[in-house]
Amino acid sequence: MRMNRVVRPAVALVALVAGACVRPSAAPVVTPSPAAPAPVASAPAAGVVARAAAVVPNPNAPKVLVIATGGTIAGVQDAPGTLGGYRAGTLTAEQITASVPELARYARIETEQFSNVASTLVTPEMWVKLAKRINVALQRGDLAGVVVTHGTDRLEETAFFLYLTVRSNKPVVVVGAQRPATGISPDGPINLLSAVRTAASPRAVQKGVMVVMDDRILSARESRKLYQRTGGFDTGDMGMLGVVASQGPEFFFAPVRRFGERSEFDLDRVDTLPKVELTMSYPGGTGQTFTTNPKGVVVATTGMTAAENATYRALRQTGVVVVTSFTSGENVNGGGGGGDGPPPARVDTAARRDSVARPVVAPVPPGVVALHLTATKARILLMVALTKTNDPREIQRIFNEY
Ligand code: SIN
Repeated sequence: MRMNRVVRPAVALVALVAGACVRPSAAPVVTPSPAAPAPVASAPAAGVVARAAAVVPNPNAPKVLVIATGGTIAGVQDAPGTLGGYRAGTLTAEQITASVPELARYARIETEQFSNVASTLVTPEMWVKLAKRINVALQRGDLAGVVVTHGTDRLEETAFFLYLTVRSNKPVVVVGAQRPATGISPDGPINLLSAVRTAASPRAVQKGVMVVMDDRILSARESRKLYQRTGGFDTGDMGMLGVVASQGPEFFFAPVRRFGERSEFDLDRVDTLPKVELTMSYPGGTGQTFTTNPKGVVVATTGMTAAENATYRALRQTGVVVVTSFTSGENVNGGGGGGDGPPPARVDTAARRDSVARPVVAPVPPGVVALHLTATKARILLMVALTKTNDPREIQRIFNEY
């Protein structure tokens, strides 16, 4: 494996290594105690050395920057080569890329260590820093694309945040693994190879941020972790963009909603995101109130109880933006977005009754409906939208377009 250049960003968050979490495998045999020191492989395995000798690096290959954040793809077991527990976010970006010498056939790799944590420790502030870093990197004329290695627990959320806020047409691919790097038959190396091949491919331009796992190319907007085994990432009814075949990435579809260069979200003056809470509705529910003073609330629901409706209407009345999203994320019939005309006027019947009975009462600001977005992703879009506006009509427009 030839490392052309290892870039160390001024804002590197390498110190977050301390936050690495111990995590059991899907079928754990050994779960080391959180206090146990994690062994870190220092020399490449014999098989990797042999593979490296067989690789002829392509000196003209596109340049791809691999930014590592942690996760199982960087996970190491106390008992390597077993099905046992492991410590996510242990191997470095250089170690991960060096374990796949075949990368040099398709790309000239640069690496950066952004953090090294289990993805449950990833915060919205880290999303902002990561998106800014990628936006700066992609301004380089010589860089074809970026790969972000990430834990799978929060992968779809980081990927969607980047989809909304990386304002470039160059490919950004987020990749993880469901088995640790030292486990039996790890999926990280082949996933990383597929991710780099995708990020290096001219075919991947203008496809937005993608998740590449298990040879599938998924739009970050639709990708979801369905289960904790290989093949566990899917896009529900909306299909995948393409596959990484033996001859390379093949695209069949392209996303048409707003993202990338057409995104209106500029993080230049943003360091923290507005607080948005997430809650669920359920039979007999009365709705939730919050002591955290959120600017927005997302409610996962297929239909609210009368008491929930009253609670969230009262919240809207105080200026909090309330977004409803289908629990499955498969709502294609709300908000009046897209289609062949403007959204139908929404009449809040409670407001109308109020205005008849007590004309001085201010109308209740409308609720916002998420179209085909899971509640966790609706929360991210609302956080980003609230950096621009807190007008629910404008936020509905944003939900209709992204
Ligand atoms: C994590 O999300 O960091 C651990 C789980 C994984 O990467 O699969």
